[in-house]
Amino acid sequence: MSAITLKINGRDYDADLDPATPLLWALRDTFNLTGTKFGCGAGLCGACTVHLEGEAVRSCQTPVSSVGARKITTIEGLGAARSHPVQLAWIAEQVPQCGYCQSGQIMQAAAFLARSPHPTSDQIDQAMSGNICRCGTYQRIRRAILRAAGEAA
Ligand code: FES
Ligand code: FES
Repeated sequence: MSAITLKINGRDYDADLDPATPLLWALRDTFNLTGTKFGCGAGLCGACTVHLEGEAVRSCQTPVSSVGARKITTIEGLGAARSHPVQLAWIAEQVPQCGYCQSGQIMQAAAFLARSPHPTSDQIDQAMSGNICRCGTYQRIRRAILRAAGEAA
Protein backbone atom coordinates (compact mmCIF):
# COMPACT_ATOMS: atom_id res chain seq x y z
CA MET A 1 0.00 0.00 0.00
CA SER A 2 1.10 3.56 -0.68
CA ALA A 3 -0.18 6.97 0.34
CA ILE A 4 -1.70 8.36 -2.83
CA THR A 5 -3.22 11.77 -3.47
CA LEU A 6 -5.47 12.22 -6.49
CA LYS A 7 -6.72 15.57 -7.78
CA ILE A 8 -10.35 14.94 -8.65
CA ASN A 9 -12.87 17.57 -9.68
CA GLY A 10 -10.81 20.37 -8.19
CA ARG A 11 -9.99 18.89 -4.81
CA ASP A 12 -7.42 16.51 -3.33
CA TYR A 13 -8.41 12.99 -2.31
CA ASP A 14 -6.00 10.99 -0.10
CA ALA A 15 -5.96 7.24 0.43
CA ASP A 16 -3.71 4.28 1.15
CA LEU A 17 -3.94 2.17 -1.99
CA ASP A 18 -2.11 -0.57 -3.81
CA PRO A 19 -0.38 1.40 -6.60
CA ALA A 20 -1.81 -1.03 -9.18
CA THR A 21 -5.40 -0.25 -8.15
CA PRO A 22 -7.39 0.82 -11.21
CA LEU A 23 -8.48 4.44 -10.98
CA LEU A 24 -12.06 3.21 -11.51
CA TRP A 25 -12.06 1.37 -8.19
CA ALA A 26 -10.42 4.26 -6.34
CA LEU A 27 -13.14 6.57 -7.66
CA ARG A 28 -16.03 4.25 -6.91
CA ASP A 29 -15.01 2.26 -3.83
CA THR A 30 -12.60 4.56 -2.03
CA PHE A 31 -13.98 8.00 -2.84
CA ASN A 32 -17.65 7.12 -3.45
CA LEU A 33 -17.73 8.84 -6.85
CA THR A 34 -20.05 6.24 -8.31
CA GLY A 35 -21.12 8.13 -11.42
CA THR A 36 -18.27 6.42 -13.25
CA LYS A 37 -19.39 2.90 -14.15
CA PHE A 38 -17.81 -0.54 -14.44
CA GLY A 39 -18.68 -2.27 -17.69
CA CYS A 40 -16.05 -4.69 -18.95
CA GLY A 41 -12.94 -3.95 -16.90
CA ALA A 42 -10.88 -4.55 -20.03
CA GLY A 43 -10.82 -1.24 -21.88
CA LEU A 44 -13.46 -2.37 -24.37
CA CYS A 45 -16.72 -0.59 -23.49
CA GLY A 46 -16.02 2.99 -22.37
CA ALA A 47 -18.41 2.93 -19.39
CA CYS A 48 -15.55 3.95 -17.08
CA THR A 49 -14.39 6.97 -19.12
CA VAL A 50 -13.08 9.97 -17.18
CA HIS A 51 -10.83 12.89 -18.13
CA LEU A 52 -7.15 13.09 -17.31
CA GLU A 53 -6.02 16.67 -18.03
CA GLY A 54 -8.98 16.91 -20.38
CA GLU A 55 -8.24 13.71 -22.33
CA ALA A 56 -10.72 10.85 -22.23
CA VAL A 57 -9.18 7.77 -20.59
CA ARG A 58 -10.52 4.38 -19.51
CA SER A 59 -10.26 4.44 -15.74
CA CYS A 60 -10.44 0.63 -15.53
CA GLN A 61 -7.11 0.53 -17.37
CA THR A 62 -5.42 3.38 -15.48
CA PRO A 63 -3.47 2.37 -12.35
CA VAL A 64 -3.64 5.04 -9.66
CA SER A 65 0.17 5.10 -9.57
CA SER A 66 0.24 6.36 -13.17
CA VAL A 67 -1.90 9.43 -12.53
CA GLY A 68 0.51 11.56 -10.49
CA ALA A 69 -0.51 15.21 -10.18
CA ARG A 70 -2.63 15.20 -13.33
CA LYS A 71 -6.15 16.53 -12.91
CA ILE A 72 -8.97 13.98 -13.03
CA THR A 73 -12.50 15.01 -13.97
CA THR A 74 -15.41 12.64 -13.46
CA ILE A 75 -19.04 13.04 -14.46
CA GLU A 76 -19.68 14.58 -11.02
CA GLY A 77 -17.26 17.41 -11.82
CA LEU A 78 -17.96 17.97 -15.52
CA GLY A 79 -20.34 20.89 -15.13
CA ALA A 80 -21.70 22.73 -12.13
CA ALA A 81 -25.40 21.86 -11.73
CA ARG A 82 -25.27 19.66 -14.87
CA SER A 83 -24.74 22.76 -16.98
CA HIS A 84 -22.02 21.53 -19.34
CA PRO A 85 -23.18 21.97 -22.98
CA VAL A 86 -22.94 18.21 -23.52
CA GLN A 87 -25.12 17.53 -20.47
CA LEU A 88 -27.68 20.10 -21.64
CA ALA A 89 -27.74 18.56 -25.12
CA TRP A 90 -28.14 15.09 -23.61
CA ILE A 91 -31.16 16.28 -21.66
CA ALA A 92 -32.65 18.09 -24.67
CA GLU A 93 -32.30 15.00 -26.89
CA GLN A 94 -33.40 12.63 -24.08
CA VAL A 95 -30.47 10.38 -24.90
CA PRO A 96 -30.37 7.80 -22.07
CA GLN A 97 -32.36 4.61 -21.98
CA CYS A 98 -31.18 2.47 -19.05
CA GLY A 99 -28.46 5.08 -18.46
CA TYR A 100 -25.66 2.71 -17.52
CA CYS A 101 -23.25 3.67 -20.29
CA GLN A 102 -24.16 7.34 -20.34
CA SER A 103 -21.65 8.95 -17.99
CA GLY A 104 -18.90 7.35 -20.07
CA GLN A 105 -20.57 8.51 -23.28
CA ILE A 106 -20.85 12.08 -21.98
CA MET A 107 -17.23 12.19 -20.82
CA GLN A 108 -16.03 10.82 -24.16
CA ALA A 109 -18.18 13.34 -26.04
CA ALA A 110 -17.06 16.29 -23.92
CA ALA A 111 -13.36 15.52 -24.45
CA PHE A 112 -13.96 15.01 -28.17
CA LEU A 113 -15.83 18.31 -28.59
CA ALA A 114 -13.14 20.20 -26.68
CA ARG A 115 -10.70 19.00 -29.37
CA SER A 116 -13.07 19.10 -32.35
CA PRO A 117 -15.75 21.74 -31.74
CA HIS A 118 -17.41 21.40 -35.17
CA PRO A 119 -17.42 17.69 -36.00
CA THR A 120 -19.13 15.90 -38.86
CA SER A 121 -21.39 12.93 -38.16
CA ASP A 122 -18.64 10.61 -39.39
CA GLN A 123 -16.11 12.17 -37.03
CA ILE A 124 -18.58 11.76 -34.17
CA ASP A 125 -19.13 8.10 -35.01
CA GLN A 126 -15.40 7.53 -35.14
CA ALA A 127 -14.70 9.34 -31.86
CA MET A 128 -17.51 7.51 -30.06
CA SER A 129 -16.87 4.07 -31.57
CA GLY A 130 -15.20 2.74 -28.40
CA ASN A 131 -18.20 3.56 -26.20
CA ILE A 132 -20.71 0.75 -26.27
CA CYS A 133 -24.41 1.21 -25.54
CA ARG A 134 -26.36 -2.01 -25.10
CA CYS A 135 -29.60 -0.03 -25.42
CA GLY A 136 -28.59 1.26 -28.85
CA THR A 137 -28.91 4.99 -28.16
CA TYR A 138 -26.29 5.80 -30.80
CA GLN A 139 -28.54 7.98 -32.97
CA ARG A 140 -29.56 10.15 -30.02
CA ILE A 141 -25.93 10.36 -28.91
CA ARG A 142 -24.97 11.63 -32.37
CA ARG A 143 -27.82 14.18 -32.36
CA ALA A 144 -26.86 15.41 -28.90
CA ILE A 145 -23.23 15.89 -29.89
CA LEU A 146 -24.29 17.84 -32.98
CA ARG A 147 -26.58 19.93 -30.78
CA ALA A 148 -23.81 20.60 -28.28
CA ALA A 149 -21.59 21.65 -31.17
CA GLY A 150 -24.25 24.11 -32.31
CA GLU A 151 -24.83 22.23 -35.55
CA ALA A 152 -28.41 21.23 -34.77
CA ALA A 153 -31.30 22.70 -32.82
S1 FES B 1 -15.14 -0.75 -17.81
FE1 FES B 1 -13.45 0.36 -18.60
S2 FES B 1 -13.64 0.17 -20.76
FE2 FES B 1 -15.24 -1.12 -19.98
S1 FES C 1 -28.43 3.60 -22.24
FE1 FES C 1 -28.46 1.50 -21.63
S2 FES C 1 -26.44 0.80 -22.09
FE2 FES C 1 -26.52 2.78 -22.97
